[in-house]
Amino acid sequence: MKTVAQYTRIIEEAISALPLDKQPAGLYAPIKYALEAGGKRLRPVLVLSVADALCGNPGAAVNQAIGVEMFHNFTLLHDDVMDKADVRRGRPTVHRKYSESTAILSGDAMLTLADMIVMKGCDSVQLPEVLDLFNTTAMEIYEGQQYDMDFESRTDVTVKEYMEMIRLKTSVLLGCACAMGAIMAGAAEEAVKAFYSYGEKLGLSFQLKDDWLDTYGDSATFGKEIGGDIVNEKKTWLLINAIAEDTSGALAEVLGSKVEPKEKIEKVRGVYDALMLSDRCRALEEKYASEAVECLKGINLDAEARNFFESLAINSVMRTK
Ligand code: IPE
Ligand code: IPE
Ligand code: MG
Ligand code: MG
Ligand code: MG
Repeated sequence: MKTVAQYTRIIEEAISALPLDKQPAGLYAPIKYALEAGGKRLRPVLVLSVADALCGNPGAAVNQAIGVEMFHNFTLLHDDVMDKADVRRGRPTVHRKYSESTAILSGDAMLTLADMIVMKGCDSVQLPEVLDLFNTTAMEIYEGQQYDMDFESRTDVTVKEYMEMIRLKTSVLLGCACAMGAIMAGAAEEAVKAFYSYGEKLGLSFQLKDDWLDTYGDSATFGKEIGGDIVNEKKTWLLINAIAEDTSGALAEVLGSKVEPKEKIEKVRGVYDALMLSDRCRALEEKYASEAVECLKGINLDAEARNFFESLAINSVMRTK
């Protein structure tokens, strides 16, 4: 196994080699802008590390890693329009730097590029498996994103509905990344499935943490504006539980009202704090991270690989960005 930093270097090199200095620049420059901003590269790291763990050759899945990262970045271009988010990775979002039309069209192009790239290097057995997984995952993400938007205007969303929504919008892509690495490594179905489940559980922990950071993170480190979820009344685990438990009336007063964003964030956070929701959310992140590691119990991995995926899960819970 290599380190996360070593896998990341492979990914950065492959991304820099993409032919994006093309015309019309209005289409391609925003794609380059989005991809060059970095980000954690978690999904492509999963693709490469799973392939490495199962066949000793991360290079076997490098195209799939880049394709999945391209797809992830496409979802972010559209997500930032939907969420009215102005900052990502410490820089203006594509729709703010360029325009909403640009975010839509460059996003569309990224989706197609992602599709073309994931097919590269697949043999005749892998190709239908990779495409089926990729397309199924994409449809699930759109379903998750729709639920996410639908939930903004509801106040009766349950934790169960929330968990399914984040499984769809976020977890399935982490599961897909892991499974693609396994498919490209020529692994048996059992290992493909076990790694998919690992990614899926990791994704639940990951989105719980993303929602936690949206309230409790530091904007300079996290790279996004803090409080956007509260302003949009996103039904995060924090807000769902606050709605169920708040007896002060403070939440009912601000939800659905035209109160200033800053005041809304402060008031809602005050309710979270009074209910100690921050620590309770973090406990849940830990629970799903350990469940992720459990998923790998049944498959044959050496100690180094097992440690790698365990550390990845722990680091996801500990992350500040
Ligand atoms: C952001 O994903 C979208 C979510 C699913 C939370 P990341 O937090 O992985 O974003 P980057 O790629 O590291 O910027
Ligand atoms: C993003 O969820 C999920 C997808 C992009 C599919 P969020 O909306 O919470 O992601 P961030 O916080 O904007 O990165
Ligand atoms: Mg969103
Ligand atoms: Mg968003
Ligand atoms: Mg978020």
